[in-house]
Amino acid sequence: MCRIFAAALAEGPVGPVLKAGLKRLEYGGYDSSGMAAVDQGKLQIKKGVGKLDEVDKSVKFDELPGCIGIAHNRWATHGYPSVTNAHPQVDCTGKIAVVHNGVIENFFEIKERLAENGHEFKSRTDTEVIAHLIEDYIKKGMDFLNGTINAMKDLRGSYALAILYSAEPNTVILVKNESPLMLGISDEGNYAASDAVAFVDHTNRIIHLEDGELAVITPKSYKIYRISDGESVNHEIETVDISVSDVDKGGYRHYMLKEIMEQPVAISYALNLQAQYLDVVSELVRRSRITYLIGAGSSYHSCMAGSYMLSQISGMPTIPAVASEFIQQFGKTLNPDSTTILASQSGETADVLKVASYARLKASTVISITNVVSSTITRLSRAYIVQQAGPEIGVAATKTYTTQLLVYYQLAVELARKSGSITEANSYMKGLHELPRLAEKVLEDVSEPVNRLAAELKDANHIFFLGRGINTATAYEGRLKMLEISYIPSSAFSAGESKHGPIALIENNSPVIFVAPDDTSRKVIMGNIMEIKARGGKAIVFGDENDSELKQASDEFIGMPQIDEMLSPIIYILPLQLLAYNTAILKGYDPDKPRNLAKSVTVL
Ligand code: F6R
Repeated sequence: MCRIFAAALAEGPVGPVLKAGLKRLEYGGYDSSGMAAVDQGKLQIKKGVGKLDEVDKSVKFDELPGCIGIAHNRWATHGYPSVTNAHPQVDCTGKIAVVHNGVIENFFEIKERLAENGHEFKSRTDTEVIAHLIEDYIKKGMDFLNGTINAMKDLRGSYALAILYSAEPNTVILVKNESPLMLGISDEGNYAASDAVAFVDHTNRIIHLEDGELAVITPKSYKIYRISDGESVNHEIETVDISVSDVDKGGYRHYMLKEIMEQPVAISYALNLQAQYLDVVSELVRRSRITYLIGAGSSYHSCMAGSYMLSQISGMPTIPAVASEFIQQFGKTLNPDSTTILASQSGETADVLKVASYARLKASTVISITNVVSSTITRLSRAYIVQQAGPEIGVAATKTYTTQLLVYYQLAVELARKSGSITEANSYMKGLHELPRLAEKVLEDVSEPVNRLAAELKDANHIFFLGRGINTATAYEGRLKMLEISYIPSSAFSAGESKHGPIALIENNSPVIFVAPDDTSRKVIMGNIMEIKARGGKAIVFGDENDSELKQASDEFIGMPQIDEMLSPIIYILPLQLLAYNTAILKGYDPDKPRNLAKSVTVL
């Protein structure tokens, strides 16, 4: 999704600072990039189409002069990627520049009205109307601040904005409504960004803006106003615990690989969830008549696995659902006796936030599982659990997926303990504490066979992923990793479903990956392996290393350590993440920046 960044520095040039911040925000969107600064009373704009480095080569962002500037990475929503549609967008006079993350719902109406008044639009973006709207109010005699406040009152939709006006060259105006935006405060200057990683090199002192607020920053000051009545507002400065090394690649070629390999550490952090949060959340779930587990993409897959954990460990039935479908599918069933658990690593996915707002209206108890404590979802939730995975920059979810599974597991054990269905949680907790070591061993042991497998699969036309029981979720997640970064068409099914249709696609040598730990599904999945082989398919099996029968039945077998069934998705997804990564590399793709995707999807 688009990401914005602004800096008001005591000393310039602002270009290199903006470029470094945009680089950190690249995970959020990267079909075009741009910047604007005020120099000698005039706006200077540099922008272009492509990834930041490509645009930089032609426009040379470092050469942007001045001390005050705004910047943007775009992930197109309105208007195809082009230089004209790239941000910043400007007004008719070329004095006002705007960068925007979000969607203006009523932009067409405003555009028509402004066009009738003589405004000329150059782009297809919804953002451009904002610059013209402010221009209109300034023309009526208002200053930059009041013009912007009035313009904001006309807008409907979601927006995080950073705005420059060359006639007031010392100032950046920021506005937040339903899109993430925070200020970074320091003695050398002030910043604003969609995510604190943009200014983590300069300060860890941040202020979260609330929806409907506007901030004015200069190199030496900041002031926040409520748009509805223009009153000034005070927020406390928070000190966040995020360091430069947290967001570096740490010697790995890609963030995705770094994040896969640091899962043993992320898992050990996620074992230290704060007891009081688990206690509150499990109590709320326990009292609920019906509980939904909701997410998008990988987070939905963790909800699928979570529903097996909750039913099998604690006897609690729950319904996993896809966020974008949830309101139509189950919205009418929400009431004060229901609980809505929302899993979103970023805490900013628009489909998930929409469910959160809807569930609140229905007085359902909203709980979230997220990796970003300062995200919007935590503010919409009655209680939340933070996954503790550390920042995830690679677009494909890896460590945030495994740590979400861990949250669900610990929640299930806590619920079981509370309801008395297990007398003591020790045996469950023991398996849990062995996980970091096991994850480390698996990542080491599978690296060579998975590399070989990637070389075999890289030219496949199609790959199947099959699993049963809780590892149906692993098959789904393994398939999502493969297709989103290697672009190989892939399908996933619960193995029992394969004979109800998908098996029609099996031809000689069609690769079929089975997730087959030694669990309650082991016997039946053997039958599914045989069915595929009988039709010429190639059975590539991830199974227990001591399972000689399975090994014999497989065309290729990758041995995994013995593991408890409910914890197995956390360990079995690791080789599938590595497989997807290696396949993408062999095909020459950048796994950190898959085409058409964004780290967090902040539009519906
Ligand atoms: C896939 C992936 C996406 C996200 C989805 C939800 O690798 O990363 O499918 O899982 O966009 O994102 P969050 O968890 O931030 O709500």
